[in-house]
Amino acid sequence: MDLYEFQARELLVAHGVPVPRGRLARTPLQARQAARQLGMPVIVVKAQVKTGGRGKAGGVEVCHGGDEAQQAAERILGMDIKGHVVHSVLVVEGVDIAAEYYFSLLIDRAERRWLALCSVQGGMDIETLAREHPSELARVAVSPAQGISRAKAREIVVAAGFDPSLRDSIAEILVSLGEVFVSEDATLVEVNPLVLTGAGQVLAADAKVSLDDNAFFRHHDHKQFVDTSGEDPLELQAKARGLNYVRLDGEVGIIGNGAGLVMSTLDVVAAAGADLPGGPKPADFLDIGGGASAEVMAAALETVLADPNVRSIFVNVFGGITACDEVANGIVQAVGMVGGLPVPVVVRLDGNSVEEGREILRDFADPAITLVDTMDEAARRVAELAVTDTAAADAGRS
Ligand SMILES: Nc1ncnc2c1ncn2[C@@H]1O[C@H](COP(=O)(O)OP(=O)(O)OP(=O)(O)O)[C@@H](O)[C@H]1O
Ligand SMILES: [Mg+2]
Repeated sequence: MDLYEFQARELLVAHGVPVPRGRLARTPLQARQAARQLGMPVIVVKAQVKTGGRGKAGGVEVCHGGDEAQQAAERILGMDIKGHVVHSVLVVEGVDIAAEYYFSLLIDRAERRWLALCSVQGGMDIETLAREHPSELARVAVSPAQGISRAKAREIVVAAGFDPSLRDSIAEILVSLGEVFVSEDATLVEVNPLVLTGAGQVLAADAKVSLDDNAFFRHHDHKQFVDTSGEDPLELQAKARGLNYVRLDGEVGIIGNGAGLVMSTLDVVAAAGADLPGGPKPADFLDIGGGASAEVMAAALETVLADPNVRSIFVNVFGGITACDEVANGIVQAVGMVGGLPVPVVVRLDGNSVEEGREILRDFADPAITLVDTMDEAARRVAELAVTDTAAADAGRS
């Protein structure tokens, strides 16, 4: 889960990282009040969206006084930044910036460890920094068993080329940022810019934190960060039912067991659809996991059918611990539970007890269900059915 800047800042503060004082505002009037309460000659109004490049998009404005803060908030609230609508702004005290630095700590999956990136060139986005000043971006491996110790922090600031007079104060902040990463179960902690003020203070002027959803269960205080305003309602509903469902923009509903099988099902369906008129594509990713009980299958069918773009459905199951006959029985009962199938469904079963499974579906003899033996053939069939069904629906409308 990605956090908003105002949320990320809370975690930084909790671990002793200094940040400029600030207040969240959801209306221009609140922004005016926040600016007054901060009582500073210069304030900065910042769009709160879960994407980078807010400054470049006009989502960060330097203001003087409450009037200007209110006007800035009027401009920024409701703005669309790379598809993210701004619902709130952070009003922060303006800082007298002497220098801007970059720091991030992230998971380096390829190397199975963590990686700290640090540079005395901050403020610009990391891609630009890496491209234009590669020699000025220090990359230091961090052991997940040790995190950022004092010695590691020192290694990072030296590698980044900080002036010796600044090393201790920056290193201290890096240790705290390392603590945020570990104790909050983050997958990313990025501060860009980390600023040095004219008075010689070091502050995190921006903060980006992503939390590991798999560790959510042990952080009850992270519940406050959950924000469903930008999420797809169908995805939220599916999540509440315990389904791994991601909505896509195609026409072929996909249900399978096991993330790997579902991923490859998306690929074969996309490939099959590419050759057909209208190029039907997968409408979703839905992994029903290990147990394909009737309830799970019914919930999966209901979820996929709730997407009005879906014209056909591919149920692709490889029987392992869950045998194909159980899956077939699940499908039969699920069809009853959802009150019949409004779109054609192609079923491919393989693996444990496949013959028994196919037998059950043949006996069920629902005209909406087509049994196909191989995955490629099934993908072709379901893509064709999406086209035929679209044509039929269009003809019905005209
Ligand atoms: N409190 C502040 N006082 C003065 N200047 C600030 C303050 N906060 C940010 N700035 C200036 O605005 C610039 C952009 O701010 P920030 O890094 O928060 O947004 P951004 O980088 O555009 O957004 P993102 O990090 O999402 O790409 C900073 O590099 C800094 O120069
Ligand atoms: Mg930034």
